[in-house]
Amino acid sequence: MNAFYYRRNELYAESVLVSRLAERYGTPLYVYSRRHIQAQYRALAGAMAEVRPLICYSVKANTNAAVIRTLAAEGAGADVVSGGELFRALRAGVPVSKIVFAGVGKTGEEIEYGLRRGILFFTVESEPEIRRIAACAERLGRTARIAARVNPDVDPATHAHITTGEKENKFGVALQDVRGLCRLAARLPGIEIAGIHMHIGSQILSAAPFAEALRRTRELCAELKRAYPSFRYLDIGGGIGIDYRPGQKPLLPETYARQVAPALKKLGISVVLEPGRFLVGNAGLLVCRVQHVKHSPHKTFIVVDAAMNDLIRPLLYEAYHEVLAVRRGRRAIRADLVGPICESGDFLALDRDLPAAREGDLLAMRSAGAYGFAMASTYNSRPLAAEVMVDGRKSFLVRRRQTWRDLVRDEVIGN
Ligand code: LLP
Repeated sequence: MNAFYYRRNELYAESVLVSRLAERYGTPLYVYSRRHIQAQYRALAGAMAEVRPLICYSVKANTNAAVIRTLAAEGAGADVVSGGELFRALRAGVPVSKIVFAGVGKTGEEIEYGLRRGILFFTVESEPEIRRIAACAERLGRTARIAARVNPDVDPATHAHITTGEKENKFGVALQDVRGLCRLAARLPGIEIAGIHMHIGSQILSAAPFAEALRRTRELCAELKRAYPSFRYLDIGGGIGIDYRPGQKPLLPETYARQVAPALKKLGISVVLEPGRFLVGNAGLLVCRVQHVKHSPHKTFIVVDAAMNDLIRPLLYEAYHEVLAVRRGRRAIRADLVGPICESGDFLALDRDLPAAREGDLLAMRSAGAYGFAMASTYNSRPLAAEVMVDGRKSFLVRRRQTWRDLVRDEVIGN
């Protein structure tokens, strides 16, 4: 489903004019489409129906409560990586029995929070970590369900910063060390071996790396299932890629399912998925207003009121986000799209054919629903943007814009 489209040269979010939203809520503004999120969830759940997976939305992609709640209402669980994310997921209504907790550096406090609430399982990424989890469980008199995170050492052919399942990465334990980790886990009090987990990377556009990771781990999985009666889950992580560029082929849920579902079915195991970007990436726009158009002898700069603090992906991953004119019509010009921050890295698009916008015009960055607002900061003391959810003809503010006062609220001047 394409939630963002033109009618009579005006950009719409579902049935709402994007220009209206900008007038009403100001800019920079994140706009999300609820129906797109729902459609993505249903497409994945439908494609994978034969293994009836538990789809744990990877909350890090977009932590807005309205987004999490939309997915929870579809039946999603949550994949969290911090106490803060666990707090958000619970607050937004995700059942605790559908929450999994990953990450290489969980603190004792975070583990105890998860244990007290009774999450589905923790991934375990190292031997010291399993000892820490066991100690926490013992202290609380609880049982911690764990899934050993396997690093299958496959190349997902994506950006180096978002590759997680190669042997050089800090994540998980090597395939040959998983049995040892499970033996240790079985000896520790308060630990129940619930399954194994992997996550090979993000924005993966081919199903082959997923299939390869499965090929490498399925025997281990079958063996552990035989060895430990409590072993039930295979969590194959997230990583399904979406289209950022016009014409780019996304990884379709059917293609993904065709490559992974038969092997999963054969294993006869409960499947967990942790998609983030796939569910919310193309459900979001970042709308901004042109402040100036600046011509230098070498270049044209379109200066807008959004910046790297609002969307850091172009700088951090050389990511391409399509730039749309909210009112279409003018020809294109070759330009850089930049923000007002005092850094040369403050760009949203470099040397691109952009709508020949003028001062006051509105532009929208596409595919900003995942790792957009979630990675925003207040650098240069720029208040965080507002977020709005559109649902059919309705729109509602799901995060108010920060004020200057909000920026200093937690500061203490001291002496
Ligand atoms: N599960 C685990 C354990 C993860 O580490 C991640 C993402 C996911 C699931 C969700 O992955 P997804 O389905 O969204 O690809 N900030 C980067 C992406 C970092 C991904 C980190 N881990 C970006 O903007 O591209």
